[in-house]
Amino acid sequence: MKDKNWAEEIATKIFEKEKEVVARNYNRIPYTTEMGRFDDWSDDDKICWWTNGFWAAMLWQLYYAFSEDSFKECALGIEEKLDKNLMNYMGMDHDSGFKWLLTSGANFELTKSEEAKNRFMLAAANLAGRFNLSASLIRAWNDPGNGDTAGWAIIDCMMNLPLLYKASELTKDPRFTQIATAHAARAMNVFIREDGSSHHIITFDPNTGDLLKPLGGQGMEEGSSWTRGQSWALYGFSLSYLHTKQKDYLDTAIRVADYVLSQIPDNFHIPVDYCQPKDIAWEDDTAAAITASGLLLLSKELLDLDEARSKKYYDTAVALLKTLAKDCCNWDKDVDHILTNCSAAYHDDHHNFAIIYGDYYFTEAILRLCEKEIFLW
Ligand code: GLY
Repeated sequence: MKDKNWAEEIATKIFEKEKEVVARNYNRIPYTTEMGRFDDWSDDDKICWWTNGFWAAMLWQLYYAFSEDSFKECALGIEEKLDKNLMNYMGMDHDSGFKWLLTSGANFELTKSEEAKNRFMLAAANLAGRFNLSASLIRAWNDPGNGDTAGWAIIDCMMNLPLLYKASELTKDPRFTQIATAHAARAMNVFIREDGSSHHIITFDPNTGDLLKPLGGQGMEEGSSWTRGQSWALYGFSLSYLHTKQKDYLDTAIRVADYVLSQIPDNFHIPVDYCQPKDIAWEDDTAAAITASGLLLLSKELLDLDEARSKKYYDTAVALLKTLAKDCCNWDKDVDHILTNCSAAYHDDHHNFAIIYGDYYFTEAILRLCEKEIFLW
């Protein structure tokens, strides 16, 4: 109850801040902030960016919790803008879940709009079409047609599988779920290491499906543990369990979660890579927020199966969220972002800045904690 009350207070604080943020950013699709103000990724050359659904999702969550109509209107405008992406073959990749679960999926859930359902199904069909039959994996990114990345898959894709699970629910056509479970089953074997940590990228022969090699991707190096990648694995396998109730997905989510818990620093500030040198102060609040939200979900799933683990995951999630709220949030209503210490990739020049999906997952986890969330996955 104490945690729930705390989360309600934070949720109200987010809502009060976002009312002002929405009013001055009505037509933007933000990724980060410059001098405290959102940038805008809605132009044609940026509209396909993978993070373009998160601001709308945050607004749908807050609309659901606080019934502020301007939030819904703003989210609907973003969904419409994303049609340019939906009609751009090269801009469609494995991240369709992040874009259309969080826009059209939310819209359909709340309004039953046929237009939203149409977008949702087009995105799901495209994602299903990225499945490589030989490898039993969904291809990650596109390339200009030279096939360089035809055999690349990434752990992040686990978060996009609910687009397929839900497409099967909507249409009563099992093909989407068949593809999602085929991907999840191979991903479990090729991404998750002995100690429960996850590779970021794995490469395979796109003709035979044979595994080639893992790549370090956005982490420090191959063999290290990019923290956001670990959070995608933890949350992603939990979601596959939620949708299918297949125990091996739950076991995998637990293996990853136990690994993550063994790595979280005592001060609950999450680095960019769990293996990074201790004197490097780069943090990633997005990894903290995604881990917290994933742990809350997994904790709930484990309530009747493993009470001790369930409590441990819940307590860790709450500790991560309280640390973010205390040390990492900017509550100034004149500043557009909330979380301050995010990082996109270990080898980037820029660290400890605002990233929109950090704010989304923080909001989602807070609303999950106080039971005011609309579940979008
Ligand atoms: N999905 C890309 C990232 O997590 O940065």
